[in-house]
Amino acid sequence: MARRIVVLNGPNLNLLGTREPHIYGTGTLADVEALCTERAAAHGLEVSCLQSNHEGELVAALQEAGADPEVVGVVLNAAAYTHTSVALLDAIKATGVRVVEVHLSNPHAREPFRHTSFISPVAEMVVAGAGPRGYGYAIDHLAATGG
Ligand code: DQA
Repeated sequence: MARRIVVLNGPNLNLLGTREPHIYGTGTLADVEALCTERAAAHGLEVSCLQSNHEGELVAALQEAGADPEVVGVVLNAAAYTHTSVALLDAIKATGVRVVEVHLSNPHAREPFRHTSFISPVAEMVVAGAGPRGYGYAIDHLAATGG
């Protein structure tokens, strides 16, 4: 398989399009994944996408990405697990996989419990509040610095 970027989306992001559209917009997860595929292709990279509502599946995906020399890095929107998951933090630390943290909304402009991120301390870059375009920026960064 060609060099690739792994795009991981966490809980409830399968509901994009109908989920609180005033916050997350009307684009679907399929739209986000299509944007990622297109953006990566522009850099000559492939993309593997996974959405999961289960923390352990996201941990496993990070471990797999970290063990695969063909993976340039991970674009991670851990959704609510951003604010709770020591397991995701540990998986990133344990594997040393490059991660760009992405949020559609800007969590810092929202409820206080969203102001803490367990991912940010180990993320190379954080993109928040740019909507789906943020995934593209994350891919541009990974491609520019390691693609
Ligand atoms: C989110 C922000 C999180 O606080 C929230 O739990 C999500 C989505 C975002 O993309 O803006 O599910 O990660």
